Amino acid sequence: MTTPFPHSMDFTGFNAVSRVECEIYDLIVHGEVPKEINGAWYRMIPDPQYPPRLGDDTFLSGDGMMGRFWFEDGHVDYRQRYVMTERLLADRANRKSMFGSYRNPFTDDPKVKGVERGAANTTPIFHGGKLFALKEDSLPMELDPVTLETKGRWDFGGKLKSKTVTAHTRLDPETGDLYFYGYEAGGLATNAIAYCKADKDGNLVSEQWFEAPYVSLMHDFVVTERWALFPVFPTTASLERLKAGGPHWVYEPGKESYVGIMPRDGSVKEMRWFRYDGPASSFHYMNAYDDGDLVHMDFGLAQVNPFPFIQKASGIEVDPSKARSRYARWTFDMSKPGNTISEREIGPPGDMPRIATKDMGRPYEVGYYQRFDPTLGKPNISGPVGAGFNTVSRLKVQTGELRNLSMPPTMTVQEHLHVPSTKTGHEGYLTFVVDKHDVQGSEVWILEAEHPESGPIARIEMPLRLRCGVHGNWVDVGAF
Ligand SMILES: [Fe+2]
Repeated sequence: MTTPFPHSMDFTGFNAVSRVECEIYDLIVHGEVPKEINGAWYRMIPDPQYPPRLGDDTFLSGDGMMGRFWFEDGHVDYRQRYVMTERLLADRANRKSMFGSYRNPFTDDPKVKGVERGAANTTPIFHGGKLFALKEDSLPMELDPVTLETKGRWDFGGKLKSKTVTAHTRLDPETGDLYFYGYEAGGLATNAIAYCKADKDGNLVSEQWFEAPYVSLMHDFVVTERWALFPVFPTTASLERLKAGGPHWVYEPGKESYVGIMPRDGSVKEMRWFRYDGPASSFHYMNAYDDGDLVHMDFGLAQVNPFPFIQKASGIEVDPSKARSRYARWTFDMSKPGNTISEREIGPPGDMPRIATKDMGRPYEVGYYQRFDPTLGKPNISGPVGAGFNTVSRLKVQTGELRNLSMPPTMTVQEHLHVPSTKTGHEGYLTFVVDKHDVQGSEVWILEAEHPESGPIARIEMPLRLRCGVHGNWVDVGAF
């Protein structure tokens, strides 16, 4: 037995835990899954095995559950398995949660002192023939790409010195090189960033360390063909606060933000820091690209950190009507001295951006992201921020043209991904899990990416509720 989970936002309604490992063959499909979609869609779900040790906790502490949809000739199978982290093994050995508050080891049961705390619950990536589950506070976990069996921690054969690898990596679609980094690379609340590159076969070929202006929650970064961009927004950590049993993260709206830019394949000594003085927070970058000496970066820009547990730790009461959130383009002129950032608004606020893999780091026209449109109905809770998204948007980033799929009032969408088409001139597909709040059930929808407003071309019934995942990735069958 275990005790019930708390009646808080993070564990009730669609955020109720699942804890189900399963295999389902030939899911029921309404409509037709395009037969050119062949491969695996991996998605990571935080799904805690045990109730929080300290009575309550954030959704983001949940043990990593890896899901895998397998698409083959119009058929779809599904499998999900826990990632058997050191943390989950220790909890199961003790039949309770041994780990305290989010990313604070000073709140753990002393019996697990020194045990790796990473929950491997954020992003699946497949690179160099290997499948990894990533969480930004620790090293990747390697899983079998078919069975999802856990193989163990991955440190590039002992080569990687960083103690962490972030959940957002960046691929050069032409070379297959993977660019990634770790923050708090030297340990808890350290200001060290490790910037790394692995070749297409997964060999670590570069690891350089540098210091950010301050310790911050650097969740994502972005590369162009020439540059690597490291945004720093003021959600900050302090070792003293952690030692006192306090929260890992506090948002400091009065603190300045930065974007560090260095040659993508150059030295960290060439890093140049651009400064932004308004209140700012962002987690995901749609894309960035070079335009002569200009560098453009497109992303969802908010005035406050959106996570309720961080707002609470920061003593912030948010009035959404006063927060000037927007989808923004920041442009940096690398030919001129100074640290000025120019901004223009390219769309309404939102998050969870995706683009076609071929466009990564290149000039591009179209991105897809998600929004909450209050005119569609009251918020439905799904995921760590609270209100789930109810709109999938296709944005033409140069013109601002939007095409929207607006969900019914009882439905929210989980993160979509983009699946390329083999047909010339075809924009590919978007696929995502739909939360059906009226019946606590799930479906998967597939859209034509060029026309999200036309609705699904296929709906896949799920015989179990799929707890909100964080991120997913598509791996074409040719990669296996
Ligand atoms: Fe993320």
